[in-house]
Amino acid sequence: MDAMVVTGGCRLQGRVRAGGAKNAALPIMAASLLADGPMCLKNVPDLADIRTMMRLLAKLGVESERRPNGDLVLESRNARRNLAPYDIMRTMRAGICVLGPLLARRGRAEVSLPGGCAIGDRPVDLHLKGLRALGARLDIRHGYIVGSAPGARTGKRLRGAEMYLGGPFGSSVTGTANVLMAAVLAKGQTVIECAACEPEVQDLARVLIKMGAKIHGIGSPCLVVEGVDRLVGVPHTVIPDRIEAGTLLVAGAATGGDVTVEGARSSDLFALVHVLREAGARVERFDDTIRIRARRRLKSVDVTTLPFPGFPTDLQAQMMALLAVADGISIITEKIFPDRFMHIAELNRMGARIRKEGNAAVVHGTRRLSGAPVMAGDLRASAALVIAGLIAEGKTTISRIYHLDRGYERIERKLAALGATIKRIKER
Ligand code: EPU
Repeated sequence: MDAMVVTGGCRLQGRVRAGGAKNAALPIMAASLLADGPMCLKNVPDLADIRTMMRLLAKLGVESERRPNGDLVLESRNARRNLAPYDIMRTMRAGICVLGPLLARRGRAEVSLPGGCAIGDRPVDLHLKGLRALGARLDIRHGYIVGSAPGARTGKRLRGAEMYLGGPFGSSVTGTANVLMAAVLAKGQTVIECAACEPEVQDLARVLIKMGAKIHGIGSPCLVVEGVDRLVGVPHTVIPDRIEAGTLLVAGAATGGDVTVEGARSSDLFALVHVLREAGARVERFDDTIRIRARRRLKSVDVTTLPFPGFPTDLQAQMMALLAVADGISIITEKIFPDRFMHIAELNRMGARIRKEGNAAVVHGTRRLSGAPVMAGDLRASAALVIAGLIAEGKTTISRIYHLDRGYERIERKLAALGATIKRIKER
């Protein structure tokens, strides 16, 4: 297993580019199940989760290939395979995004429930609610969602419906993606109220429109879909990864650096920019580039995670690493995944003073962190530990970085190019 060794104490400086958005690419890859003909996707990052989705789609009869120029080409060829097995689904929750397309296009699906993960129990009731509203029959059997469209044998289809997709924590990103991908081929009109507005859902809607779908209200909490009979494969360039961009910006600010991130669309990162400015960083925004400078010690700030355009839960852990050394007390409230605080114990091992209080963390800023061997149980927590390692005195070894590799493509190279002392090692 690989580990990352970070030696802290340097200011990050320079220019870096964020790659394509993992969380946009994954549902768009699942949309290839809906298409006649090949989809050619550009700007798909080379990540473990992307390869897992390729393996899952292969089980469902979709051939995929990474071209030498980096393009990812996917084509659905065998429409009789409808089983998404547990051994793949348990490693990547986004696999659930095949459920809607399978029901819409093939009329049948057997998709393993993905199970919980380090950030919470992560139910899929909203996915099921939306798909049932479209007429799908869905049962849970032996850990699998077993579903069919009405009259699947006679070639009938899902039917449009009005639905409310809000849950106790607001909208659902992959829930909206799943239902949207089912609705585009349903008969008649679908109205999804409390749809997720995240840029990744917007990107999916845009590619579906290119494929022939009729969708109104993109980026708003009300999506209106007029079902069509057929969708075709198209080329598409995936949006840049706002979470990777945000992580690099937070790393720049936390180290008192001067970092310019390309592929950082300010419309996607509004909440982060606001919070970093409040903490005292200088942030300049250009079209798809953001520059951050932080010369002095940053100030404490309160952060609450919320669905887009609120502060993203996927940047909460990284922000906590930054605030661990800020001047004053910060309250970080997690309103999306109330248990997403596994990183607190590890940050405290590095000398941070953070206390969990229900769904919030009270962060007493200290002047310094000290390097330590640490380990994280999820992707964004691992990114937070890398940032903590960059700030800390001495050496930090972060184990189990397969989590990091699920969401960041060669992050050590990007950080090293900005002046970080970081290397990947093999751990026994
Ligand atoms: N929820 C329900 N019922 C559902 C679905 C969700 O109650 O049927 C709840 C969740 O438990 C949570 C909230 O609704 O409290 C939001 O969950 P959401 O469904 O939006 O999360 P997701 O679609 O499973 C995606 C990202 C996550 C990101 C969240 C929130 C992908 C592949 N994953 O997950 O990304 O944290 O949205 O923005 O898009 C990551 O990249 O590290 C990551 C975890």
